[in-house]
Amino acid sequence: MLANKRILLIVAGGIAAYKTPDLVRRLRERGATVRCILTSSGAQFVSPLTLGAISEDRVYDNLLSLTDEYEMGHINLSRQADALLVAPATANLLAKMAQGLADDLATTVLLATDKPVLAAPAMNVQMWNHPATQVNLNTLASRGVKLIGPNEGDMACGEYGMGRMSEPLEITTTLEDFFAANKRLAGRRALVTSGPTYEPIDPIRYIANRSSGKQGHAIARALSNLGTKTTLVTGPTQQPDPPGVQVVHVESARQMLAACEAALPADIAVCAAAVADWRIDTEANQKLKKEAGSHPSPLVMVENPDILQTLSNTKTTRPGLVIGFAAETQNVIVNAKSKLAQKGCDWIIANNVSSEIGTFAGEANTVHLVTSEGVEDWPRLSKVEVGRRLADRIADTFETSHG
Ligand code: PMT
Repeated sequence: MLANKRILLIVAGGIAAYKTPDLVRRLRERGATVRCILTSSGAQFVSPLTLGAISEDRVYDNLLSLTDEYEMGHINLSRQADALLVAPATANLLAKMAQGLADDLATTVLLATDKPVLAAPAMNVQMWNHPATQVNLNTLASRGVKLIGPNEGDMACGEYGMGRMSEPLEITTTLEDFFAANKRLAGRRALVTSGPTYEPIDPIRYIANRSSGKQGHAIARALSNLGTKTTLVTGPTQQPDPPGVQVVHVESARQMLAACEAALPADIAVCAAAVADWRIDTEANQKLKKEAGSHPSPLVMVENPDILQTLSNTKTTRPGLVIGFAAETQNVIVNAKSKLAQKGCDWIIANNVSSEIGTFAGEANTVHLVTSEGVEDWPRLSKVEVGRRLADRIADTFETSHG
């Protein structure tokens, strides 16, 4: 299935463009989100209104739109996709791709992308057989473009032969196979913590923090997308449970620790939760009452268990790779390095959580990957992209050192 996959569909100008609304529908049925770029000749065959209605997103068509560049930018169209799908891929568009031309939005995005590109050619049989087209196809295949079809059959021009675009269902299945083969962490188990903890004072009051769970949930989703069997232990958040992930909902730090220990063994543990360091020593059984003229009794705090430290120092079931976060408001790297040593984990993801930066509950994060080898500064990214990059780094590590 294509759950959570984001497909950037580029629709070029061929009669087979009439099949693209059905293609969008089938991709979405399988859980993908689809955003469309329509070339000017593509718009002669299928309307932006149709594609926009079926994809439930706006359709992009103009490279030089100041508003689009301001709000989104052509580079972001590719950044926010998991794969680019060109369908129909006309002889003309394939030629431009092979030459590296960038004279409209579609070709510019195709030149600027570092994401996988799949193309479903569609053209007249003579164009398909032309040596120029065949050279272009070989060039593109050698650069990693995955070709889907074409099929043999009757053509709109009345001829018969190779060049019919693959049917929407065939294209969808090829995409499913493509993503399934990309599951670099298949067979691994991952444990992720996310969100805040609530430390009870009495039956109706608690101490909490501003974590929204966006970062932790994005990491769980990204690991699951790479094939891990993922358990997400989360404090109370508004985030929906990521599909395909086993989610354990908890409130307090002690409940979170118990749920994490129950989820072991795991190959990977990522502690992104904002766990309260302290809890109230004795939770009141009844609501604390305001007595007229008296001051409230001071709350006596005791230290909570440290989940990251516990997982890092678990004897027999220590996950092969334990990753913690460091939420700092000053001396971010220095403090993160000392957390790496103090907690006994393998990596720390350091982020600045000063209120003016808006890391807590925001959509974006600027993180630094701190390991025994040094510090890697990542650019400001969406939390989803941070999750994806981290999952890729974890996969790299397992491929090189864990076999
Ligand atoms: O949830 P969002 O709104 O998306 O915000 C994301 C985030 C800012 C919460 C996230 O990016 C983040 O920084 N998470 C860690 C928050 C935190 O508690 O950091 P810390 O520096 O206090 O703790 C260091 C590490 O120890 C963390 O991995 C934490 O999960 C862990 N810890 C801390 C205390 C404790 N008792 N047990 C723990 O496991």
